[in-house]
Amino acid sequence: MTHNIGHITVIGAGAMGSQIAMVSALAGFSTTVVDISQDSLDRARQQLWSRVDRDVEKGRRTAEDVEQAKDRLVFSTQQDEAVAHTDFVIEAAIEDRSIKRDIFAQLDKTAPAHAILTTNSSNIMSSQIADATNRPDKVCNMHFFNPALVMAGVEVVPHAGTSQETIETTIAVTEAFGKDIIELKQEIPGFVANRLLNAIRVEALNLYDAGIADFEDIDQAARSALRHPMGPFELMDLVGIDVAYLVRMAEYEQTGNEAAKPHPKLAEKYEAGDYGRKTGQGWYQYAE
Ligand code: CAA
Repeated sequence: MTHNIGHITVIGAGAMGSQIAMVSALAGFSTTVVDISQDSLDRARQQLWSRVDRDVEKGRRTAEDVEQAKDRLVFSTQQDEAVAHTDFVIEAAIEDRSIKRDIFAQLDKTAPAHAILTTNSSNIMSSQIADATNRPDKVCNMHFFNPALVMAGVEVVPHAGTSQETIETTIAVTEAFGKDIIELKQEIPGFVANRLLNAIRVEALNLYDAGIADFEDIDQAARSALRHPMGPFELMDLVGIDVAYLVRMAEYEQTGNEAAKPHPKLAEKYEAGDYGRKTGQGWYQYAE
């Protein structure tokens, strides 16, 4: 048990939430992943099981570890019930401030008073959510990267009112997950990693938009000339064009900074519903 954390709840069984929940279960925590949609939960279970079974086949994990982790992971549509005895919540629902505020207000009513409430949001800072609860000192960002089962880094970001104890416990949970901690001293939209990522993405979109090179060649430059594991366009497709767009929109709305507005080429893809791998079409086309 880490800082007396026995049970962890993850809200949202999308690409991020489901893998975060699996990370938690693999780390030995009794874990519940909650989603309003039973279909999303069924899909998450099927995808996670095939991921971890493959890890066993490839000798990356033992069959015993994986079976125990599966037993520790509960899939539920009942948020209130799931959090009634939880110690630590990681919210990974849609990037929408008012939805997150509603979720946090409800968590505050139903989770035990000691429970820490974190958000995986990449761009909505916890100060914008914490005041929807009566425990703002127990709220912070705990930001994972996609795919969460693979990516080692996690940003831990307190807001001005987050207590030292909350920061320490969140760091301890991150360590127990086997992840590398990127600790921010204060909030900033985009945190650190996404600010770096965005600088590359904006430049890539500008080069493409100006007709300097095709997006495939820009990706090639990132991979072959800079040794990035993926090019910026491939990465948008992996993370989700919708996520990339909404993150920029949230920053624009928070700061009023015109430069934060989603790039027109990104907006075009978003408006067409071409979200990347998840819809089969983004910058690239994906087979079923
Ligand atoms: N979920 C879980 N595991 C995955 C995965 C996925 N979606 N995709 C790949 N993997 C794992 C698998 O274990 C896979 O091995 P097997 O196929 O043998 O099972 C292993 O990674 C290698 O995969 P691939 O051979 O298909 O391809 P790869 O070597 O290029 O690795 C990658 C894939 C790990 C995704 C790698 O390309 C990479 O690191 N890309 C960059 C990802 C990145 O930058 N993420 C950050 C995004 S920004 C973000 O997330 C912030 C935000 O706020 C939105």
